Amino acid sequence: MAIEQYGRITEENMYSQRIHMNDDAELYNSANDVTRRDAIQLLEEYSSKLKFKVRNPRVIDVGSADGSVTKILSKYLPEKYKILVGSDINKKSIEFANKTYGDNRLKFIPLNIEGNLPDNLRDAFDNTFSFYTFQWVRNQEKAFTNIYNMLSKNGECFVMFLGYSHIYTLFYALSKSPKWRSLLKDFDTFASPFWNYRDPEKELNKILKSIGFNEIEVKCKQMVYDYKSLDAIKALVTAINPFVIPEDIWPEFLDDFVKVTQDMKLIDEQTGAVKINYNLLVVHCFK
Ligand SMILES: C[S@@+](CC[C@H](N)C(=O)[O-])C[C@H]1O[C@@H](n2cnc3c(N)ncnc32)[C@H](O)[C@@H]1O
Repeated sequence: MAIEQYGRITEENMYSQRIHMNDDAELYNSANDVTRRDAIQLLEEYSSKLKFKVRNPRVIDVGSADGSVTKILSKYLPEKYKILVGSDINKKSIEFANKTYGDNRLKFIPLNIEGNLPDNLRDAFDNTFSFYTFQWVRNQEKAFTNIYNMLSKNGECFVMFLGYSHIYTLFYALSKSPKWRSLLKDFDTFASPFWNYRDPEKELNKILKSIGFNEIEVKCKQMVYDYKSLDAIKALVTAINPFVIPEDIWPEFLDDFVKVTQDMKLIDEQTGAVKINYNLLVVHCFK
């Protein structure tokens, strides 16, 4: 797989001059165990609270990537759901997801949740979900407003995404080193807007309230994931890295990433496993 693909602005109209996670859906599909695990954990935890107010809900999943989490979501919907639409800014992911998981009720469409909402998506859904995507969203207000506008009256919104993560601290440390500073200069547009907030729940509450959402509940959950080996963490970094780093120095970058991981004492010396702490911001509210 070509390393120079990472972070390339592939859809000029949609990507509007900022960096994104790399667009290799197949690679992502093989490295996103953590997002699948967390989606299942949160769907289990919230299943008694989720209110599907109509018998045949129309549902959208924002930021569906390879589609594997959208497929998992389908199992938590009322059996007779009308349609489940996965959506993503990345057209390659949409193609992969339609090919791999699409069926007569599960479709994937391109959508920039921070862009202008197409008219046909207004009031088009009874439930909106989003997993591990809003950390990429710079304009949180616009994205949540689009969610609000996509929902029918009393529609439900469930969004979870990264706040703080050790992964950000590791990239941040490298972005301050003379060797990698210039290549990682866009660190601020890569990290979650809330990665260094003391009280992200408060800020999110404020945004959701100002848009008009009701029954707002925002939680910040402390999470941990053990990557079984250095190779597993390297695969993850390769799958999510949005920075353009030349192929010939990519192995060196990964080695330096591991060194910082060692310096931060995140590696268990006996087993070689890497313990990554992070926070998930979980938003549940209604139109
Ligand atoms: C980490 S993946 C999460 C995928 C999946 N929901 C999961 O939990 O595994 C984040 C996805 O968000 C998409 N994304 C980033 N910015 C977006 C935007 N503004 N609108 C729609 N999708 C976006 C990326 O293309 C990527 O596929």
